[in-house]
Amino acid sequence: MTLHETASPSTVDGLAVVVVAAGSGTRLGYGMPKALVPVAGRTLLEWALGTVREALPAASVVVTVPAGDTELSAVARGMGAAAVTGGATRAQSVARALAALPGRTTHVLVHDAARCLTPPAVFERVVTALSAGSRAVVPVTEVTDTVRGVDSEGRSAGTVDRSALRAVQTPQGFERELLERVNAAAGLLSGPAPSNPAKEGVQGPGPAGPAGPGVPRGHAAHRAVAQGRDPEGITDDASLVERYAPEHPVDLVAGHAESFKITRPVDLLLARAVVESRA
Ligand code: CTP
Ligand code: MG
Repeated sequence: MTLHETASPSTVDGLAVVVVAAGSGTRLGYGMPKALVPVAGRTLLEWALGTVREALPAASVVVTVPAGDTELSAVARGMGAAAVTGGATRAQSVARALAALPGRTTHVLVHDAARCLTPPAVFERVVTALSAGSRAVVPVTEVTDTVRGVDSEGRSAGTVDRSALRAVQTPQGFERELLERVNAAAGLLSGPAPSNPAKEGVQGPGPAGPAGPGVPRGHAAHRAVAQGRDPEGITDDASLVERYAPEHPVDLVAGHAESFKITRPVDLLLARAVVESRA
């Protein structure tokens, strides 16, 4: 069986996929949003949505696009996905997409458009874990570089045992209720107003900004969000679960080498080679 002839995945009713494509692609340096950059004649967003459709034909798909965009929105709509304007950071883009999910959604995958060549089998592994009861699941790969720690001055602090490390990819899968709850706890998504703001030490509803109305101010995470930053130490969706709902384990499934994130120009060379090898 090749990557393109995968069996039907375990299904989860009410599955939605958020594809984040609202970044500017600064490190790629194309002078256009990264998701619009072509690989072998198709934009990164088209490759990403093509795989989502192949792996999960019944899922609802929401794409985040940069403010003022028309081109990525047209690509999304042309491939049966909804488009919503993203936020100042990836996490804020995810939160905006969560606010636009269809009401029937029970489970959400969050995927980087920049990982546009993720094989369908990885989506299937994540969905299979959700259907087996996982509430948060991430695909990972082994770390192949030797990794060395450094101190605050950049001086060597010794080699890290890489056998105890994994590199994290997307799509990351979540029970919708859990992902919304941790986004609200971080101030990324409007949650129910606290019943007693004075007692809880918050200062009332926050501004209608990235976090939307009704987000309490006064906590470091919420201040960061109001300033267009992510809460300290939050680097992906699963890290929100670890921070704000640590009682829930984050389950791991195997990622894939071809699920690398297109970040710098050299990654585009690799992407073209992967596409050629699949033809
Ligand atoms: N993303 C997003 N909204 C943002 C920032 C990023 O939806 N405000 C998306 C990107 O479009 C990408 C994914 O998150 O698909 C991973 O981000 P990254 O690789 O950092 O992409 P960019 O932010 O576009 O790139 P750069 O950091 O080099 O500008
Ligand atoms: Mg970025």
